[in-house]
Amino acid sequence: MTASASHSPNPLNPLNPSNPLNSQSPPERSDPRPHPVATALDLRGRTALVTGAAGGIGAACALRLAAAGARVRALDRDAPGLDALHERAASLPGAVESVVLDLADLDAAEEAAAGTDILVNNAGTQLVRPIQDFPPDEFRAVLTLLLEAPFRLLRGALPHMYERGWGRVVNISSVHGLRGSAYKSAYVAAKHGLEGLSKVTALEGAPHGVTSNCVSPGYVRTPLVEKQLADQAALHDIPVESVLTGILLADSALKRLIEPGEVAEAVAYLCGPHASFITGTTLTMDGGWTAH
Ligand SMILES: NC(=O)c1ccc[n+]([C@@H]2O[C@H](COP(=O)([O-])OP(=O)(O)OC[C@H]3O[C@@H](n4cnc5c(N)ncnc54)[C@H](O)[C@@H]3O)[C@@H](O)[C@H]2O)c1
Repeated sequence: MTASASHSPNPLNPLNPSNPLNSQSPPERSDPRPHPVATALDLRGRTALVTGAAGGIGAACALRLAAAGARVRALDRDAPGLDALHERAASLPGAVESVVLDLADLDAAEEAAAGTDILVNNAGTQLVRPIQDFPPDEFRAVLTLLLEAPFRLLRGALPHMYERGWGRVVNISSVHGLRGSAYKSAYVAAKHGLEGLSKVTALEGAPHGVTSNCVSPGYVRTPLVEKQLADQAALHDIPVESVLTGILLADSALKRLIEPGEVAEAVAYLCGPHASFITGTTLTMDGGWTAH
């Protein structure tokens, strides 16, 4: 299921272009420090690249950033999904352009990231198997998509960010970047690696006005989670209906899935003026999972 509240009639919905918070222009100022009074997120003039933007969290992020006026390059291998996103974004103040690409092509990925001010590393996949049954090729493919592709996208994006003296990198990690779970060796290894890559990016980017952070959710209501239900049921020998409460939400204090739009708000916050001192860290959205 993809998420987004882009067509909600709620006038305060951040994706609603008639939301007065979105139409408000930021004050003119020569002082680069954020104004102490809250202002709307204004990303006009910024180019954002969101990977895995055809569905789930990536689509919600692309819509949220376009709602703030950014020109969004929506990258995915799913061309029909990008077409649908394009339609949903039609009334937003920013622009959404499709980049159809399989991130397994790492050279093309690096090239596609050139000229971006905001990079949201989001594309992901999951395979749930015990280590002894985990196909080595699949292990490598997960690491390539979740860790090596973000590295190559950073290589492509950082020179432009450094040149402009401003950049925002947001890596969609996971509670599995901070905690392990059985049967998720490749995913947990890759997300832990992504958390490290994000910290190094923060250290190198700081003198150039570039921040880098992770957003690390628990389980989000997206196709990635829906696809896991049958695998988890088989591995734990329980009915599919019991997977959500019995397995996925067992460690979460809040017993519900997160909505993609909630994750997109966290990403938007990290791109905004009040997050300019936040770097090298992780915004955990895990319903209390890591509070244990
Ligand atoms: N859904 C969750 O519960 C959850 C929780 C924590 C973190 N995450 C992370 O959030 C990110 C997005 O997950 P989601 O749930 O929205 O997944 P999703 O499956 O709904 O969307 C992933 C998108 O990535 C694209 N993609 C996959 N492989 C690709 C490739 N090789 N090249 C280009 N595009 C590719 C897919 O086409 C899809 O549009 C992932 O990094 C995931 O690990 C998800």
